Parts: sequence; C-alpha cells; structure tokens
Amino acid sequence: MDNHITTYNQLNPAAEARVDALLAQMTLAEKVGQLVQTNPFGPFDRDHYDAQKQTAEENGEPFEYFPKLRHDMEDLLRAGGVGSFLNVTLPKAINHCQRLAVEESRLGIPIMVGSDVIHGYRTIFPIPLAEASTWNPELLEKASRVAAEEASAVGVDWIFAPMVDVARDPRWGRIAEGAGEDPFLGMAMARARVRGFQTTHLASGRRIAACPKHYVGYGAAEAGRDYNTTDFSERTLRDVYLPPFKAAFDAGAGSVMSAFNEISSVPATANPLILRTILRDEWQWPGVVLSDYEAVKELIPHGLAADLREAARLSLLAGLDIEMISDGYHNHLAELVESGEVPLELVDEAVRRVLRLKIAVGLFEKPYVDESLAPKLILRPDFRELALDVAHESMVLLKNDNDLLPLSPQARLAVIGPLANNHKDMLGCWSLHTHPEDVETVLEGLSVYLPDEAWTYVPACPIREDGPLDIAAAVAAAQDADVVLLVLGESADMSGEGHSRTDLGLPGRQQEVVDAVAATGKPIVCVLMSGRPLVIPQLASQADALLCAWHAGIRAGRAVADILFGTVNPSGKLTASWPRSMGQIPTYYSHKNTGRPASEAGTKQFAESFKSVYIDAPNSPLFPFGYGLSYTRFAYSDLHIVQPELGLDDTLTVTATVTNAGERAGAEVVQLYVRDLVGSVTRPVKELKGFQKITLQPGEKRTVSFAVPVSELGFTGLDMRYVVEPGDFKVWIGPDSTSGLEGSFHIKKA
Ligand code: NOJ
Repeated sequence: MDNHITTYNQLNPAAEARVDALLAQMTLAEKVGQLVQTNPFGPFDRDHYDAQKQTAEENGEPFEYFPKLRHDMEDLLRAGGVGSFLNVTLPKAINHCQRLAVEESRLGIPIMVGSDVIHGYRTIFPIPLAEASTWNPELLEKASRVAAEEASAVGVDWIFAPMVDVARDPRWGRIAEGAGEDPFLGMAMARARVRGFQTTHLASGRRIAACPKHYVGYGAAEAGRDYNTTDFSERTLRDVYLPPFKAAFDAGAGSVMSAFNEISSVPATANPLILRTILRDEWQWPGVVLSDYEAVKELIPHGLAADLREAARLSLLAGLDIEMISDGYHNHLAELVESGEVPLELVDEAVRRVLRLKIAVGLFEKPYVDESLAPKLILRPDFRELALDVAHESMVLLKNDNDLLPLSPQARLAVIGPLANNHKDMLGCWSLHTHPEDVETVLEGLSVYLPDEAWTYVPACPIREDGPLDIAAAVAAAQDADVVLLVLGESADMSGEGHSRTDLGLPGRQQEVVDAVAATGKPIVCVLMSGRPLVIPQLASQADALLCAWHAGIRAGRAVADILFGTVNPSGKLTASWPRSMGQIPTYYSHKNTGRPASEAGTKQFAESFKSVYIDAPNSPLFPFGYGLSYTRFAYSDLHIVQPELGLDDTLTVTATVTNAGERAGAEVVQLYVRDLVGSVTRPVKELKGFQKITLQPGEKRTVSFAVPVSELGFTGLDMRYVVEPGDFKVWIGPDSTSGLEGSFHIKKA
C-alpha cells in the first residue's frame, strides 16, 4: 500500500469553476436535493425477504438481502431530490440508484454514499479506544486504509469517522469509539485515521472522504449519559474539544458531522459559533457540515425550534449544509428561501460545498462500483494479519505480580468466564457488518499453544444477566489447575452509542465467580474485555496478573494467547484513566490544580482537611493515563533540556535515555509532558506534548529526543485568542502521566 492521500481541505480553481457552472444550472429544488441525506430503503418487508431468500436457496447462491427501495425513491433520484445516502453497503443497490441519479436526472449529479465504518468494515479491528492504546499512529493509518479498501469495495465513498470526541467519563458508552481523554493524543490519532481513509489507489479505483465527528463537545455529556446536555467554557471548547477536529481538517478531511449536544445552550447543529465563526471565519475551512441522525428535527425537543420548519431555518442559517434523515430541508427549505427567511446565497454556499466534495472524491468520473470486487477483497489474509498486529499492540498489561505472565506452556489452566469462548462480543460496538464466525476466541487462541487436555473450560456465568451461575464447577476447575485464567468483562452491547452505564464494575455475577475462585488461592491471570475503562479495584487486587484486552476485533483470541504465552510482549498504554471508584468520575490526568490541591496524588484519607480531596478515597485513579506494563523493564535516565531559556520562536528540545533493563525485547511508549506554572488563566497540572514508541533489545539503550515548538505551548487566553505566555515551565519524560524524569525551562518575553 502506498501512502498518497487525497486532501479535501483546499480549493482547486478548476473544480471551483465546475461547481459554479453546475450551480448556475440548478433549480432551487435541485439545490435543496443536494442537502438531503436519506436511506433509500423502505421498511422491512417480510414477504419480499422470504422470496429473495428462497430464490437464492433454489439457485444455490449466497443470500444477501436487497431491501425494497422506498416507494418514492426512484422518482426522487430522477428529480435530483436527494444528494446522499447513509449506511447502504449493497453495491447492486448503490449502482441502481446511482444510475438513476447520473443517467436519468436532469443534471446527472451523482449521489454520495456515507457509512459508519468505525473500526473496520468486515475486517473488524479493535475498538478505537483500544486502537489508540497502541500509541502507534502509523499502525492506525494502515488499519484505516484497510477499512477504506473494504468500504470502498462495497460502494461507500464517505466514512463517518474518525470519532474524535475527547472523552473523560467512562460511563459514556461512546468513549469506546474515540481515542480517549487527551486532545494531543486525539490529534495524532485523528490525523492518522483521516490519512488512512483518504488514501489514494484503493483497489476499487474510487476515493473516500473522512467525516470527523461529532462536532463538538459531545464527549462532555453530563454524568456520561449519552445525548445529555453538555456545559463547558469556550476556553475548554477551544483547548480540549476542538483541537482533534482542527487536526483532522489540517490532515485533509473534507467534511464534519455536527453533534447532538448543545454548546452554551445552543445545539451544535444550529450553533453559529462553531459552524460559522470558528469553521468558516477563523479556520477558513471549505468542507461540508453534515448533521447527525435527525439532529435537525431534534432541535424541537431541545426546545430551540417550535417545529421542523424553524429547525431547518435555524440550521441552515447557522451553517449546517446537509441534513441527515429528518425532512426539514426536504420539506421546508425551498419555501424558506422563497419567503426570504433564508437567503439563497446561503443555500448556494452549502450546495457549493457539497458539489466540491463530490467532484474531489471523483464521483462524476467514476460513479459506479465494481460489483464483483468485494468478495475478492474483503477479509483478505493481509487485512486479517494487520488486525492481529493492531490487537497485539492495543492490549494493556495492567498488573503482573511475580512475573506470572508469560505463562509456561507446561502450566495446567482452568479457563473460567463467559468471554473465553465468545465470538460476537469480541467485535465490540459499531460492527454493523458483524460476522461472528470471522472471530477467533480466546479458547481458539489458546489451542495454538496448548493441547486440549491442558485446560478445563468453565463459562461459570453469563456476561450480564443474573443466572445461571456455576461456581462449583469453576472452583473445582481452579483447584485442579496450576493457574486460573479468568476471561471476563463487558458484552459488545454495553458500550457504544446509547449504551452508557452507571455502574462500571464487572457486570452480572462475574465478581461472585472471581471471589470464589480467588478463595482457592491459585494464581490468577485475568483477561478483561471491555469497551471502556472499568472500575474494578477488587478484581485488580485479587488477580495476580491483569491484561486489558478491550473488544479487540476478529483476531482478539489469538492476540490474547500470543501475549499470555509471551510470543508478543505487551506494549499498549492507557489513553483514558481507570478510576478507583465511580464517585471519582470524571478523572483525567490533565486536571487543574485548584486553590487547595492535595499535597500528593494518592492522598491519605482524612489527613488533609479542607484540601481538594475525598474523605474516603485517594484522588488518583487506579491506573493512570499513559500507563501500561511490559514483560521487560525500562529505565529512564539523563534528562537533558538542550536550551532551558527559550524565545517564543524557538523549539524546546528535551532528551532522555531509555534502557531496556530486562531480559526480553520490548516496545515502550516514551511520553513527554509539560506544565505551564503560571498563566493569565489557570493551566492543567500536566499536558502531553509528545510521545514516541521505541523498541529496544535487552540491555539496549537509546536517547529519545523530543522537539516541541514553543508556539505549541500556548492556550486560549483571557481574550479567547490563542497565546503563548512567557514564564516558567516544568517538563517530564516518562513511562506514564504520573512518573518520569522532571526538569524545567523558561520562556522569555519577546
Ligand atoms: C448517529 C451517530 O451519532 C453517528 O455517529 C452516526 O454516524 C450516525 N448515527 C449515522 O449512523
């Protein structure tokens, strides 16, 4: 695969002329059509389904359901009344509709097909939160290319990803879909995914446009409840939530999806500050803004619009280009223009942006998808291989007392837990094209290393429901084994959109199983699968070794086995803190100091009255941001700040030596953090400003060097403008956000 990227963030004079020529010929109705995104299919029709199934069976062909088109769809396409589709991945259906748009509509403007390809299309990779835990943007770029290859082969030209919402509340089910709690890391991952999706030379000969989402601040949903109200300052908007979007646009993303939430009491979908002032006036970004699913209509329950007409008016005026699913633009936009309530120029601008994207994607030249391609391309062996690489790097070793891991192949195992032989839950949320048979389970992975007689398997309990519980069998198996391997966690449907939780402990009765097995005194290895950080202090104290495996996609089981037996040395690090208790949420490393900071992280109970502490638990998380162990040990030494007095135009260069002081080769994510000690507004206690993943052989040492332009050490100042303020800073290079070598530097006045 090459690494040429299509960028959609710049104006191209030839394309602009083409857009103008087209726009000049369009009727108002045709213009509105370009701003309508819908699903072309009607409601599910059982007879239609059964008939197709029967025909496929009679002909001995694989069955793929082709739903009936909406009764008005063909006429709409001929009239140019629809501009794009969502979540249609049937090449035959897409080509059929495309033919109507291209060959039978007056202006022949092709439709664009968008889809949610969040962590792979059919080759399902680990969930994005896990992918981010690789701290390996190059790897994510490759994974995103595979997703683009497969999606493009089924006719998709617009991927509704990356999800770049910063998420600091693990109750929020959608934390699974993003890169975690940090904007700097989020920026790196956003760039990588956009580059991967927008790669050129896809096998289909077509191109894909990325659609970062959800613009913006959606991750701040109060109490982690999906779709809930958000409320944060404009400074936090600019310093925390916006940067990953800006990074995605700078990498070439040509569209963005507006979020469901409100920003300062104005829902994102009709918010002029974010859609017009920031996107257009400040950033001069020429891309398309697409609403989230029915988000225009949702302005009514939000209480911003009395009816759909008003919702459409407010959205268009604010700067929303395309409406997804609801019919506000379709039903009312033309009339709003005719009545003078919406200026035609604004509609023209929106249409211009849509046509620009369609031209840049190459749809006018290559509107059809090759219907024979997908079966040859999907799940290609090299794609499956890459899914395994990503799964390996995404898993985070949280605990390994007495070097219990890697396991000896001679050890007799009791494999206990509802996720050990599970296919479908490994896929995690957003695997729309789920084929559980694609997945390798943990038991299948173990069988690569051990003969069947070397383990006993007891599911012991369901993942989340109450019964049946088979503690006796679990205990008997444990007693009979050298090591207990618990495979526990969440099901795929416990995270993702609309799947927030208030209790992040082990679901169902899994903890009862752990308690019973722990009482046997046998050494315990726990593989924990989840779509988010869990709150598991008890389990963490009971297990001797704990591997966070997330929902790791189709190669999950093999990846777990490779790590358990030491063929692969774990190298993942957390990108979202794991709290000790629910009451600590939100907990994130880059918090403010407050006027009454605790004297140390991990404050002692009751010892510091009237400080910003709890009386019943430390402030620190159980496992912090950036944390993850290896089977080897890395030692940090010799922090060196090349120029401790810097001007505003200089670059901060900091180096440190990292030594592999253990006995195995391993990869380490070396992290650089800074703190601006005094500002005109308060600053976080630490901010990630660099990371590098390096591989070292036993005994090998390397000097790692970070170069951070001083211009990147700024923030949103009192006047809401970006500023770098002179003064004293601290810097750390270390293995996570709570430790490392510390130094200081000074930025001089200009
Ligand atoms: C709603 C989700 O919020 C969004 O992420 C997704 O892209 C759309 N639905 C379309 O499925």
